[in-house]
This record gives sequence, C-alpha cells and structure tokens, in this order.
Amino acid sequence: MSEEKKILYSGMQATNALTLGNYLGALKNWVNLNEEYDCFFGVMDLHSLTVRQNPTEFRQNARKLYALYVAAGLNPEVNCVYYQSHVPAHAQLAWILDCFTYMGELNRMTQFKDKSQKHSDNINAGLYTYPVLMAADILLYQTDVVPVGKDQMQHLEITRDIAERFNNIYGNVFKIPEGYIGKSGAKIMSLQDPTKKMSKSDENVNATILLVDDKDTIIRKFKKAVTDSDANIKYDVENKPGVSNLIDIYRCVSKKSIEDIEKEFEGKGYGDFKLAVGEAVANELAPIQEEYNRLLKDKVYIEKCIKENDEKAAYFANKTLRKAMKKVGLTEMIR
Ligand code: TYM
Repeated sequence: MSEEKKILYSGMQATNALTLGNYLGALKNWVNLNEEYDCFFGVMDLHSLTVRQNPTEFRQNARKLYALYVAAGLNPEVNCVYYQSHVPAHAQLAWILDCFTYMGELNRMTQFKDKSQKHSDNINAGLYTYPVLMAADILLYQTDVVPVGKDQMQHLEITRDIAERFNNIYGNVFKIPEGYIGKSGAKIMSLQDPTKKMSKSDENVNATILLVDDKDTIIRKFKKAVTDSDANIKYDVENKPGVSNLIDIYRCVSKKSIEDIEKEFEGKGYGDFKLAVGEAVANELAPIQEEYNRLLKDKVYIEKCIKENDEKAAYFANKTLRKAMKKVGLTEMIR
C-alpha cells in the first residue's frame, strides 16, 4: 500500500449469481477507479448469512464471486481482494459499533424494512444490525471512498454517523468515508418492472440479466423487456421508465451520451433498439465470462491470492481494531 494514495473499499454479498445491476452500479466503477486508489474488495459472506443459505452452494457462490471480481479486472496482485469472514476483526468491530448505534437509526433502514417483508419467516437480528457490520467493514480500513449503487447510500450515511459519534467521544479513530456513485448505472431497473431495481432475488428470470448469461439468453431477455406503446426512443424516467432503463444500460456499455443514443435510434423501432442493447451488453460481458471460466478452474492461483490477501486485509483491519478496543477501555492482550 502506498502512502499517498487514498483508500477505496467496497464489496458484494456472496449470494446467488451477480446481475447486470451489480456490474454496472458497482463492479465496473471499481475497475475504473482501482488505479487511482489503494483498494480493498471484500467477498461479503458474513452479510449473506442474514438470509438462510444452502452451505454447499454458498461456499461455491463465494468462490464464484471472487473469480468474477478478478475476471472483471480487479487484479488481486494489486488490489486486496479477500473474504470478509476470514478477517475476524470485522465481527469484532461490529460488536463494538453495535453499542454505539441506536435502534431508532436501524429502524429507519429501508433495506431492513424491505428484507423483513420479503423474509417474514426469518426476521433475524443479523438482518437488523446488517448496516453496523457494513460500517465495521468500511471503517476498519480507514476508507476514503466507497463506490456503491444508490440502494446502499443509506448504509453509508449511517456508517458516517456511527464513525462521527465514536470519534466525538474518543478522538480521531476512524476516517469519515465518502460515498461514490457512478455517473450512470447507479440504479439499473428490472427488465420486467422498470419501477423496481434489478435484483438477484427476483423470481421472474426475465427481469434480470445475470453476468453469467450467454449471448442468446441476454438478447432474448432484452427482447422481452417491458417498455411502452409509443415507440419513441426518448429518455424520460417518469413517463418511459422501461425505455429509459434500456438507454441507461446502453449508455454504460457504449459510453455514448443520452442525446447520441436518442439520435442513433431516431425513427427506429423498439425491436432494433432492444437488439442493439442486448448485443452491446453481451459483447461487454463475453471476455469477462471467458476469463471467469478459466479462473474457476485455476484453483491453485485463486487460493494463493485469497490467502495472501486475507493476511494483508487482516494486517490493516487489526490496526484499527486495536485502536478502537484501546479507546473504549478494553484490556489489551498480553503478548
Ligand atoms: P449487494 O451485494 O446487494 O450489491 C453489491 C453492489 O451492487 C449494487 N447494486 C446495484 N447497482 C445498480 N443497480 C442495481 N439494480 C443494483 N443492485 C445492486 C449495490 O448498490 C452494491 O454497491 N451491503 C452491500 C455489501 C457490502 C458493502 C460493504 C458494500 C457489505 N459491506 C462495505 C460496500 C462497503 C450489499 O448488499 O451489496
């Protein structure tokens, strides 16, 4: 880690296959930013436990997520790409921060409200304190910037509140992090209901593009995307949410502006437009998929990277943890 670069931290839950929303809202930005910062990217497997997991599939999903990070362009020899659960400091700091977080604050979290509706048979305490673990993730690394999609900004705000509260009592223990939202792709919507965010847990398979979908599947799903009846390719989120979502997606993968896209498809029908978006997305994902499949077979390399990066993450995390423990008055271990 270099002295002068700022610290970037982010991660994804190791649940199910990643969607185009995860990619355009987060992963693609990470790849764009990773030269500018010293970066930590976590496979957030502890967070995934808030929803019941099949242990075998869960373990595979975590490994797949790791491989996908690397395949998308996060070089694990430069960036610290590691497993959250392999660094016990996350759970330890989360407990301390739990004691500095109010129930009133957690009650306001929209993700908690949504998830407890979706999983009404399993509203567990982990789901409730989820944002505190996320705060611990971020604060352990003295993070400057956290690139996330829009849905995570509320969690970032509570992270800042907790850090400021702690610092006000104990001095400057934590760096106060800033959120970073990409210029486009911050909220990719469902292809079947463009008023809802594209989500890995959507039961309608046509609503979601998975990063591992093949070209035919991607094009088929885009062809079925819900739009409207006026056959006009114009960006208007309020009145034309389906078309606007497709323009947003196309914008992310083509780097063209909204105006250029509207011009490109002037006088053309939705069929042509959907095909162009589908092809552009499939072309962007193809090399990532190829590298991902290759990496999954290279167990030796992946495991070496995980081991080295787990140790590197633990080194930085433990420094902050020790400081926080000392400040609150916990007795230091005798070495
Ligand atoms: P997760 O796993 O739900 O999502 C990972 C990232 O993908 C973004 N995202 C989207 N962006 C645009 N459009 C969408 N439809 C879309 N769906 C998901 C999310 O905003 C996120 O950036 N709590 C986090 C994981 C986490 C974390 C952290 C992130 C745990 N600790 C510390 C940053 C820092 C989460 O559930 O992400």
